[in-house]
Amino acid sequence: MTVRFSEEDPAITDNEALNVEDRHMTNAESNGSVKGAVVCVVEEDPILLHRMARALPRPFNTHEFPVLDQVGAARFPGESVLVLVLGASQTDDVVLDKVGSLLRARPGTGAVLVLAQPSAEVLRAALRSGIDDAIETYDLERQLPQAVTELVQRLENDLAAAAAEAARRAAPVGGKKGWVTTVFSPKGGVGKSVVSVNLATALAKRTGKPTVIFDLDLQFGDVAVMLRLNPVHTVVDAISAGSLLDKSLLQSFLVRHEKSNVWALAAPTAPSEAEQVDPAGMLRLLGLLQEMFENVIIDSPPHLSDVVLQAVAESNSVVFVVALDVPSVKNARLGLQAFDLLQFPTEKVMLVINRADSKVHLSLGDIERALEKKVDLALPSEAVVPRSVNQGVPALLEYPRSRFSAQIQQLADMVLARTAAAAEPTPLTVR
Ligand SMILES: Nc1ncnc2c1ncn2[C@@H]1O[C@H](COP(=O)(O)OP(=O)(O)OP(=O)(O)O)[C@@H](O)[C@H]1O
Ligand SMILES: [Mg+2]
Repeated sequence: MTVRFSEEDPAITDNEALNVEDRHMTNAESNGSVKGAVVCVVEEDPILLHRMARALPRPFNTHEFPVLDQVGAARFPGESVLVLVLGASQTDDVVLDKVGSLLRARPGTGAVLVLAQPSAEVLRAALRSGIDDAIETYDLERQLPQAVTELVQRLENDLAAAAAEAARRAAPVGGKKGWVTTVFSPKGGVGKSVVSVNLATALAKRTGKPTVIFDLDLQFGDVAVMLRLNPVHTVVDAISAGSLLDKSLLQSFLVRHEKSNVWALAAPTAPSEAEQVDPAGMLRLLGLLQEMFENVIIDSPPHLSDVVLQAVAESNSVVFVVALDVPSVKNARLGLQAFDLLQFPTEKVMLVINRADSKVHLSLGDIERALEKKVDLALPSEAVVPRSVNQGVPALLEYPRSRFSAQIQQLADMVLARTAAAAEPTPLTVR
């Protein structure tokens, strides 16, 4: 914490006060990076609250709150910088403890205290809570914009460094390319996205390294919704970057689900944007993701578009999801025939029956006979699945002891066994 106490004349004329906003905006505009930052100003006294908010440069996304608890209730994108500017009424121990918890819980968060009369006692408590800076009320029009701008820059650098470190740790060792698993079904609503999200989580957990989900359901992708993420960027931004796109730019387009250590390249926000993603563009993104992550999961739409066909062709494994009903099995048969026509090796396909214990008249044996393929794994139908979807946390994390989670773990182990087998040197054949 740097404590700023101005030695200059605190008096500020009305004219200066009127100009203050423009002057600070110029400062901040020269630094384009501050635009994404959220600043929450907290103060019980409405006049001081307004004065603090007005002192901040306009490019900041500024919100005013009378009490700290309302900041907790408000939702801000997890990946952006958040700065708390706390007024003189926010210095008691209870508030400072809460601030400390918030600073520890949310990466990219910082706090500045605006004090009327800084006492050693308050400053010590602020220091303990992890407050970054303290300034004096009388000079806040001059000091606050500077303090917040500097703090935002530092927090942005910290976030970028953490993202780069995460990418470095995730990268496949020894220049190997990441293993691509596409989760596919020619039928809608059979559980592709649920399987994608939970498989990615299980792989991240088992390997101790982040996993990425590439949401290729370009029109109606819901990976971000299932993980309750608010992505700032989508696959369309990555495609639009054209030749500028490299690993670090792509990293900045990903969004992270912290609890699971799963990253996502989100689907476009509007279905009409889907056509901007062509097979060549998708391949470029996939190639970069493979350089950045050991495991790449592709969630797909319920049809074989050109983009999906290309993704399947590039995949090391395909998790082919089938539900226990006649239309689903019929479509699965057609889908597998399409894979055959594409000469996609059948041994790369893992047949997964979802909601396998549903009370229907089809058995796993019926399905194996109809599809002429052995079932690799059966996932039970459990209430924890829709519940976890609504909670925005993968069932594997929220309900680790459920049968569904145990089976997903097994699916991840099957993928990892394939990865390991592929990594083994091919034995030499002696003629
Ligand atoms: N094993 C399961 N047990 C209970 N409910 C499940 C199970 N699997 C999926 N569901 C429910 O089915 C719904 C549809 O699943 P999901 O969205 O993953 O399907 P999808 O194949 O991705 O659909 P779409 O084709 O629309 O993308 C989910 O909301 C989930 O709650
Ligand atoms: Mg889906």
